[in-house]
Amino acid sequence: MTLTLVTGGTGHLGRDIVDRLVGDRRHVRLLARSAGTRSDVEWAVGDLATGAGLREALHGVDTVINAATYSPIARRGGVRPVDFFKSPATVDVQGTERLLSLCEQQCIRHFLHVSIVGLDEATLPYARVKLAGERLVRASAVSWSVVRAMPFYYLLDRMLAGLAWLPLWPMPMTPFNPVDTSDVADHVVACAFDGIRGERAQIGGPEDLSVAVLAGQYRDARGLHRKILPIPMSETRARGMGFVVSQGARGRLAWADWLQRRYAGSCDEA
Ligand SMILES: NC(=O)c1ccc[n+]([C@@H]2O[C@H](COP(=O)([O-])OP(=O)(O)OC[C@H]3O[C@@H](n4cnc5c(N)ncnc54)[C@H](OP(=O)(O)O)[C@@H]3O)[C@@H](O)[C@H]2O)c1
Repeated sequence: MTLTLVTGGTGHLGRDIVDRLVGDRRHVRLLARSAGTRSDVEWAVGDLATGAGLREALHGVDTVINAATYSPIARRGGVRPVDFFKSPATVDVQGTERLLSLCEQQCIRHFLHVSIVGLDEATLPYARVKLAGERLVRASAVSWSVVRAMPFYYLLDRMLAGLAWLPLWPMPMTPFNPVDTSDVADHVVACAFDGIRGERAQIGGPEDLSVAVLAGQYRDARGLHRKILPIPMSETRARGMGFVVSQGARGRLAWADWLQRRYAGSCDEA
């Protein structure tokens, strides 16, 4: 049976990808900085930021799904002033480069790289780091695919939670279609094994809603009493901040339904 290596398999998207692969009875190896407890996969301890363990992790591998990243914003669930100036590149650029080089040496059959919709116009340093990593994949000699996804619901949830203390939420009127990791994982796994290579269909959520409406649904799901102030934003500025609408594939799970599952029965405060 062929072996698939998943980087970032302990992350939000990675966990869903691994669940799909295991559910499809595929043989899966997870690259992680420390071994986890799930017993239906092989664990390879390694670090993209240093290169430790990568050669061993690739031994006998047929397909690589590269879903690892280091995003300080996603980790802490909020933007700080420093995020407008720099973002570490050790995982997404140098780590991707190391992995690609080893994949070339080991004649890996398919390298599927997970990326983000709208990177070309996005201005945050993390987006520039992701774009640099993606360009390495496109320029490499491996047989590659790139799947660009819209921002995930879990991240939107974290970002909005960070604003919850504000009595008034200024929110762009820009349309946006974030997506759930379960839908992205379905798409990524399909793209990994359908024999097609190169630029794959983007994946976004099922609805195009303004950020202000998405924030209102979040507020209502949590039972918060906050006023939302819809603010106009130029298209260029919105694109710079990653507020875009994807082309291509659409997930099925709506934000309101995701919120319902997450916050069913919870009313934080009046
Ligand atoms: N979040 C979004 O809204 C979004 C939107 C579109 C596309 N994407 C892309 O989707 C992919 C997954 O994103 P996510 O939000 O699911 O990520 P995540 O939850 O932050 O998980 C990141 C993963 O990368 C691993 N990782 C970090 N540093 C590493 C290192 N030095 N060596 C090896 N592994 C390392 C983490 O392992 P540990 O458990 O050890 O930390 C974790 O498994 C990324 O390519 C991201 O750019 C994300």
